[in-house]
Amino acid sequence: MDKPKTILVTGGAGFIGSHVARKLIASGHEVVLVDNFSPYYDPSLKEARIAILLKDLPFTLYRNDVQDAPAMRKIFETHKPDLICHQAAQAGVRYAIQDPFAYGESNLMGTLTLLELSKQFGVKGIVMASSSSIYGDAAHYPVKETDVADKPISLYAATKRACELMAYSYHHLYQLPITCLRFFTVYGPWGRPDMALFSFTKAALEGKPIDVYGQGDMARDFTYIDDITDGVVKALEKNLPWAALNLGRGKPESLMHTIELVESATGKTLEKKLLPMQPGDVKQTWADITQAKALLGWEPNVNLEKGVPKFVEWYREYYGV
Ligand SMILES: NC(=O)c1ccc[n+]([C@@H]2O[C@H](COP(=O)([O-])OP(=O)(O)OC[C@H]3O[C@@H](n4cnc5c(N)ncnc54)[C@H](O)[C@@H]3O)[C@@H](O)[C@H]2O)c1
Repeated sequence: MDKPKTILVTGGAGFIGSHVARKLIASGHEVVLVDNFSPYYDPSLKEARIAILLKDLPFTLYRNDVQDAPAMRKIFETHKPDLICHQAAQAGVRYAIQDPFAYGESNLMGTLTLLELSKQFGVKGIVMASSSSIYGDAAHYPVKETDVADKPISLYAATKRACELMAYSYHHLYQLPITCLRFFTVYGPWGRPDMALFSFTKAALEGKPIDVYGQGDMARDFTYIDDITDGVVKALEKNLPWAALNLGRGKPESLMHTIELVESATGKTLEKKLLPMQPGDVKQTWADITQAKALLGWEPNVNLEKGVPKFVEWYREYYGV
């Protein structure tokens, strides 16, 4: 970005939000973080991202819920953000079966609150997190942004797609520039404990068996956190009038190969319990990334062979194993 901007990062204590915040602060922007430190997974990891990953960096942190319109209005009044990087959400495909309302609240109401405040305060652009899950069980792979995405197979996916549609209406009605980034299975240091790579690594280092869903016959387009962070920052810089873009590595990896990489990085052999597919899970994800390359000048650089050892190294250091 040519000039330093004031950027509001929601979900700033989260996995992706904290990495993006770090990069934005390092580039000289004034960064304001909002996070409710939701207990969906151990909030001490969120506290540690703030205390360690963002150590000694200048930023302002609000412990707020993005649905709390009066509190959010105050933040907009105080900081007058130029750009919004909206990462806050109730994530996870499986948890929606337990607590569906968390998705309606954080994802739908939270996003609507931000769109409405962005309109009222004349924000110059929004980059928001969407998800590969919106494609559901796709008819063909790799998935393209022009593919119809109207059959979500989880409530999480339904709310993420709904957020994109709400965003489009705000773009259309109020000319708000918005880019929705459809992330594909993001992993890396400071990653989320509810995701497969994290639980495989934990199990390997604790000598415990792992549950392998879909009998191991699943594939994911794993994308390294530094590549995603780079894509989010590029999207903020470009501030396109409207876009929905896939951010994935563009190369699906089988679950079994992923497990082998965890085994080799930890030096342990995992005992695998093969189980059926879980409701809401798709069999494979695979992004066509032509659009993100063309419109953002973005290119993912880290493959799974390089990324898994980096994740395992962070895990060992952080948890002292
Ligand atoms: N990690 C992935 O593989 C992946 C893939 C696709 C999409 N996404 C999306 O990317 C975004 C970031 O994901 P992440 O992996 O960093 O997840 P995360 O759970 O680590 O980060 C989200 C953060 O938002 C906060 N939050 C949740 N609800 C909130 C609310 N109502 N108000 C304020 N803060 C709230 C949480 O406390 C958390 O710190 C999310 O929108 C997620 O849906 C992530």
